[in-house]
Amino acid sequence: MSHALDASGAGSDTPNLDFAGTTPYEDYVQADVLTHLQHLRSDDPGEMVFLVTTQVMELWFTVIVHEWETAARALREDRVPVAMDALKRSLRELEALNASWRPLAQLTPAQFNAYRSALGEGSGFQSAMYRRMEFLLGEKSASMLVPHRGAPRVHGELEKALQEPSLYDETLRLLARRGLPVPQSVLTRDLALRYEPSAEVEAVWTALYAEPDGGHADLHRLGEVLTDVAELVWRWRNDHLVATRRAMGAKTGTGGSAGVTWLEKRATKNVFPELWTARSHV
Ligand code: HEM
Repeated sequence: MSHALDASGAGSDTPNLDFAGTTPYEDYVQADVLTHLQHLRSDDPGEMVFLVTTQVMELWFTVIVHEWETAARALREDRVPVAMDALKRSLRELEALNASWRPLAQLTPAQFNAYRSALGEGSGFQSAMYRRMEFLLGEKSASMLVPHRGAPRVHGELEKALQEPSLYDETLRLLARRGLPVPQSVLTRDLALRYEPSAEVEAVWTALYAEPDGGHADLHRLGEVLTDVAELVWRWRNDHLVATRRAMGAKTGTGGSAGVTWLEKRATKNVFPELWTARSHV
């Protein structure tokens, strides 16, 4: 075991400098690994921030997936306060994720072109962790597994996420266990399919929102936190859309899509749809 030394050798009220191997910080954070994963593909000085921003976003996706999986499990076990804590943490994380658009938000086409061709067919569309976020929100799609056929671990994780109840499925099951009239067809739906809005579910939320302090005040609060999540996800999609429009106009994407028009369609999708439509009836 190493002992405390200070730089002048005088006392022990300064940080320890003496480690036999790598520092305990390194052992925990693996900063050496993390800061040597930036393999640039061009000589353009602007590529570094593009790559690191993408990596930072991947890390935030990972944290947010962790929070939402924690929340989904807690809802399944009727531990609403635990789910609320995880969802609230995810709100602050989504804000940090969205703030990380700043370095890329004003790229000009010439700046982006300086390294764009070096990306080849690489596209965020192929991000497995983003896809897990979308699956947790109920935006399921088996065809989104296809790009990952060649990567067994990632494919396995996505396959599992496709079959598991989303955050919203767990919420609706909880509402049903609390005696609210969520239809059987929703409770027993094929979980691997995209969640489709239901008039009956909209009516359940309408009733909850009409009486926020009624017998289900905690479920009303849960509805509001999920609405915050939905809003911040919508903001991420829109910030991405606007950054893309600035950087490449109407060109096709590196992933082969129509680019901005494809992203526009994705951005209009409502997360947790009835939490939005119910508001018209309260
Ligand atoms: C300003 C730089 C960026 C541009 C111009 C851009 C462009 C695009 C385009 C055109 C698409 C549609 C698919 C395709 O054909 O490629 C797309 C999808 C996507 N991009 Fe970006 N992107 C940028 C930055 C980022 C960053 C930093 C991330 C962070 C990981 C990211 C994540 C994604 C994701 C997750 C999708 C799929 C969205 C979905 O499935 O709805 N993008 N991007």
